[in-house]
Amino acid sequence: MRDASPQTIYLEDYTPFGYTVQEVHLTFDLAPSATRVTSRIRFAPNPQATDKTFFLHGENLSLISAKIDGEPVTPTLSEDGLTCDVPNMPFVWEAEVQIDPAANTALEGLYLSNGMYCTQCEAEGFRKITYYPDRPDVMSTFTVRINGPHATLLSNGNPVASGEGWAEWHDPWPKPAYLFALVAGELIAHRDTFTTMEGRKVDLALYVRPGDEGKCAFGMQALKDSMKWDEDVYGRAYDLDVFNIVAVDDFNMGAMENKGLNIFNASAVLASPETSTDTNFERIEAIIAHEYFHNWTGNRITCRDWFQLCLKEGLTVFRDSQFTADMRSEPVKRISDVIDLRGRQFPEDQGPLAHPVRPESFQEINNFYTATVYEKGAEVIRMLKTLVGDAAYAKALDLYFDRHDGQACTIEDWLAVFAEATGRDLAQFKRWYSQAGTPRVAVSDSFENGTYALNFTQSTPPSATTADPQPQVIPMAVGLIGPNGDEVMPTQVLELTQTSQTFSFPGLAAKPVPSILRGFSAPIVLDHTPDHAFLLAHDTDPFNRWEAARNLARASLMATIVKGAAPDQAWLSGIEKVLLDDSLDPAYRALMAGLPGQSELAAEMHRSGHTPDPDAIWVAVNALKQALSDRMRDGLSALYAAQQVSAPYAPDATQSGMRALGNTVLSLITRQDGGDQAQVQYDTADNMTQQLSALANLIRAGRGDAALAQFEAQWKDDRLVMDKWFGLQVIEAKPDDAADTAKALTRHAAFNWKNPNRFRATLGALAGHHAGFHAKDGSGYTMLADWLITLDPVNPQTTARMCSAFQTWRRYDAIRQSMIGKELDRIAATPNLSRDTTEMITRIREA
Ligand code: TRP
Ligand code: ZN
Repeated sequence: MRDASPQTIYLEDYTPFGYTVQEVHLTFDLAPSATRVTSRIRFAPNPQATDKTFFLHGENLSLISAKIDGEPVTPTLSEDGLTCDVPNMPFVWEAEVQIDPAANTALEGLYLSNGMYCTQCEAEGFRKITYYPDRPDVMSTFTVRINGPHATLLSNGNPVASGEGWAEWHDPWPKPAYLFALVAGELIAHRDTFTTMEGRKVDLALYVRPGDEGKCAFGMQALKDSMKWDEDVYGRAYDLDVFNIVAVDDFNMGAMENKGLNIFNASAVLASPETSTDTNFERIEAIIAHEYFHNWTGNRITCRDWFQLCLKEGLTVFRDSQFTADMRSEPVKRISDVIDLRGRQFPEDQGPLAHPVRPESFQEINNFYTATVYEKGAEVIRMLKTLVGDAAYAKALDLYFDRHDGQACTIEDWLAVFAEATGRDLAQFKRWYSQAGTPRVAVSDSFENGTYALNFTQSTPPSATTADPQPQVIPMAVGLIGPNGDEVMPTQVLELTQTSQTFSFPGLAAKPVPSILRGFSAPIVLDHTPDHAFLLAHDTDPFNRWEAARNLARASLMATIVKGAAPDQAWLSGIEKVLLDDSLDPAYRALMAGLPGQSELAAEMHRSGHTPDPDAIWVAVNALKQALSDRMRDGLSALYAAQQVSAPYAPDATQSGMRALGNTVLSLITRQDGGDQAQVQYDTADNMTQQLSALANLIRAGRGDAALAQFEAQWKDDRLVMDKWFGLQVIEAKPDDAADTAKALTRHAAFNWKNPNRFRATLGALAGHHAGFHAKDGSGYTMLADWLITLDPVNPQTTARMCSAFQTWRRYDAIRQSMIGKELDRIAATPNLSRDTTEMITRIREA
């Protein structure tokens, strides 16, 4: 079905479509295997376009009839669309097509999820619904009539009219087709209202399947908080009479910002204390905010083409991170974001899948919804704000909304607004959008005659898409600490623009200790070994204090792995102090005790000229945790007891911080008592955060069987909780058992591999288990490859995403590389492999 030799699309080839769309009318006659879609579209020649080819995208459609201005026409059909002769003046296109939602397992276009109709059109799914110029720069109003025997019939915009078996919707805001949505089913609405600062009363509803009514309240509150926040902080109000959210069980990603009708993976919206962890609550709050914020950054102002994806995603991730920082704790959010960036974006940026925040070519756009576009894209905006300052950022954003409302824009438009609002030349800054790779900055210093000098040297390794990286503009937030521990210079932002640059700080009594890259002011790797223990004790910047602990831990682990050194006493004593310091936020203390990821350690070994040994990494990490547990043995019970919350459960920052610290301490206790305390916590937990963490400890202590059986019996009817049950067993497996554990789970009656959440819970967990995935016998590689090959024809998008598990393969020893190479070859040789997976495997293999 797919093209045998996939085509590459280039940014530089952009041309506007030959026609504008004035109005779209759609009628859906719903039937599971034979849905009829009738379209009536008013086109007009686009004066801005020279190429007047009338090509409409369309995939997997059966064309029943086509008319122009009421006269039947016979278009020329191809695999990916149709062409037709059209008049050189405004005309009305009408088409009737038939589609098969029941057979749509790819979850793109119109599909059925547990009997409920839903859509996913971003990026190029609308072409599986009807023939259309399916590109984001073609914008139109939509009127939609849905005929179907369902209690709930939803589409974008405002409800116009409805009756028994039908409903009509109108979206007055011109939008690209990727924001189209339709939902039909027997759903229950959880309702509320919000009155905007402009006085518009908006009816809010969260639609769920019967049985999930009890999991709506938190998401609804998060929505109202988001609406208020966007008014307060960005001056942006909502613009329709209704805002609907629908939860669906089968969804490829987290959620989708369709205009007025957001569709969510059930895991990204449904929450209750009994079934969701604190981490789930925080993620749900952030995703609801993210999708809501897209209404302005994405929908009102959209992307000219898919190369500009970071225009909406980078900005919207940045906005949702600001929201979470405001709702909860700024340093905790910053640290969590950096952990995520290092865990997901750095490996991408430093491996064969490296691409610029704004890519310049792709084969399958679905493969570019990446950590680089999203998270590095957000970091770039954060840097821009740091460089121009808060007031200028606000001014630039006002200008952006003012000037570009209703348009489909580019990164050039975005930067022009900043250049104009601030008078800055952003030509060099733009490299953050065009160059791939993580810059490394080396630091050296000197002290002479009361003047302290800091020298920075930056370099970015070449990558698949960026052969010769040039120096970046790097905002470097720096503070100086005196030898007695007092801060002698508060944070200053230095602006690096050259390969090598020196900054001087006169008038100092003694040589200070520098605190560099405060708040992680740029997405770079810092090569610098100051006195980490000193900074851990004295840094006033909460991020860098955490970073000092991380650096100490990393150094300790590396010394253990490479030289068999004992755990570092400075880390042990520093962390003990922090954990026992009741003046610090418990959430922050829990983060301080965390260790670098095992994959990150493997990268560090590779970079420093060692071949990573996943088993040795696993052993070293466990030894360090054991050493902390041994050292703190006598104080653990009291510390644990102090984190127990007596108030009724609330997923707020205060309580979840206490539970996070409590569970960190529980894991240390389990290393002493073999799981006795964990068993008590398991038996008495009244919330999922504590139940799940207790279960993890019991598995780790080798006595999880009874609790696992109890958990399964308790939660067998709750899909989202059962995803945790599947995932946790793999996550907590010993390295040698990880692949076998995953394999056994895939034989469980409840392993529905066509459901992306269940597939990811099981196979994604295996891919994320560093020592388990890289088990010496290759069992992890084979297991994952088998399942990728199985899933590909059913759901290419989810398959392709998970191929990234192999992106780091060149770091490992020759035997592992050869085993992985064989699996990559085997996947590549699979007949009819999807375009999505073909592109990913090709890029990974070319490393
Ligand atoms: N635009 C969505 C977001 O970031 C992402 C998304 C949801 C998506 N579903 C998708 C992207 C399917 C590609 C394919 O909020
Ligand atoms: Zn988004």
